[in-house]
Amino acid sequence: MALRLDFKHVPPSVQTDAKRMMKEAQAIRARLFEGRVRGGEFTGWTDWPQRFARSDELKRIKETAARLRANSDVVVVVGIGGSYLGAKALIEALGGYFEKHETEVVFAGHHLSGAYLEALADYLQDKRFSVIVISKSGTTTEPAIAFRSLRGMLEERHGRQGAAERIVAVTDPEKGALCALAAKEGYETYPVPEDIGGRFSVFTAVGMLPSAVAGLDVDALISGALEAMETLREKDDACLYAATRKAFYDAGKKIELFVTGEPAFTSVSEWWKQLFGESEGKDGKGLFVASAAFTTDLHSLGQYVQDGERHLFETMLTVDEEDNDMRVTPLQDGSDGLGYLEGRRLDDVNETALEATALAHLEGGVGVIGLRLRRRDANALGYLLYFFMLACGIGGVMLGVNPFDQPGVEAYKKNMFALLGKPGFEAARAALEKRLKR
Ligand code: PA5
Repeated sequence: MALRLDFKHVPPSVQTDAKRMMKEAQAIRARLFEGRVRGGEFTGWTDWPQRFARSDELKRIKETAARLRANSDVVVVVGIGGSYLGAKALIEALGGYFEKHETEVVFAGHHLSGAYLEALADYLQDKRFSVIVISKSGTTTEPAIAFRSLRGMLEERHGRQGAAERIVAVTDPEKGALCALAAKEGYETYPVPEDIGGRFSVFTAVGMLPSAVAGLDVDALISGALEAMETLREKDDACLYAATRKAFYDAGKKIELFVTGEPAFTSVSEWWKQLFGESEGKDGKGLFVASAAFTTDLHSLGQYVQDGERHLFETMLTVDEEDNDMRVTPLQDGSDGLGYLEGRRLDDVNETALEATALAHLEGGVGVIGLRLRRRDANALGYLLYFFMLACGIGGVMLGVNPFDQPGVEAYKKNMFALLGKPGFEAARAALEKRLKR
């Protein structure tokens, strides 16, 4: 099994409450697979691994990736939110720490920093580069601005036709500015399925094309997701995770800290936060989701977790088998006080440190849901991300919200468009200016 759940650091009262909610969680799981929940028109991700594995799209993705790799030193993936986090999470989790890749994958369009875009333009100056632009709506401001700049660079260097050969668009197949532009310029395109929203799209071309470019085993990622889809329809792990989170929430724990012990998982944490935060945080409800990297953050946030306000619990992701055999270096001279660790595998030391931390946190009133990943490989990562999506769907419905929309994101956009002077936002601008003058 790619993933095992461990509840030994969850207080018995929370476990009892979670068990009481299991029937409800199981019923919601069944309705999710049938699309019979609020937002059911966006539940296409539930059986997507099966649909995708049977389609020709994965083959085409590999061909496009090979083409981009052959003609690029750098591939820039442009997107924000669900349109980049899945790919970044997978590439960082599986891509190796200091490995030099013949084709480097970098990201843009996930913020509005001028300094970053200028530095990226400088970096690309003497390199062959291509662009994968990803936006389901095709109208999101951040990626649209970055893409405009990168497209301009490519057109200047290669002309419009040459630029078009170096751009791939992943977007809605029928509507949106990017879809129209791609058709006009003749870019190769991939669809974001209508029934799958951004943060649930990692197994579509949104996550798989950049992953293939980065050299990841996309077949194994999809087979891991497929294995999760088939397993978790019957096995209750995703229901249990959702019910336990809800039991913590009902017990007054309003913050969930996602903890990992491997630095490669930093962007998995970012993906996880977006998935749960954007899906559940609405209608005045939802856990506030945060993340920490242990043992690093035990020397910062650790103090608060152990001893600060008691309104949180943790989900701790660990890996059972890591590939390396790095050991604490044996020395003749034990003057650094590490003699008792000599020759021990560093990953065992790490695991022991995390176990010790979970024990201390539980004692300090912070329960810990343990998630044990079999290995840090593509199959297990595919399983893990699908597990989280299913648990998130179940948990959101249990909470009584629509997990598949994000109405709260519009508020900042409306103000930003008004203050930036976008046509159509004149009244909103006048109202904001009045508020700013007060
Ligand atoms: O999960 C979501 O739906 C969002 O985070 C979107 O992915 C994000 O807002 C980007 O949207 P788009 O792909 O339309 O540019």
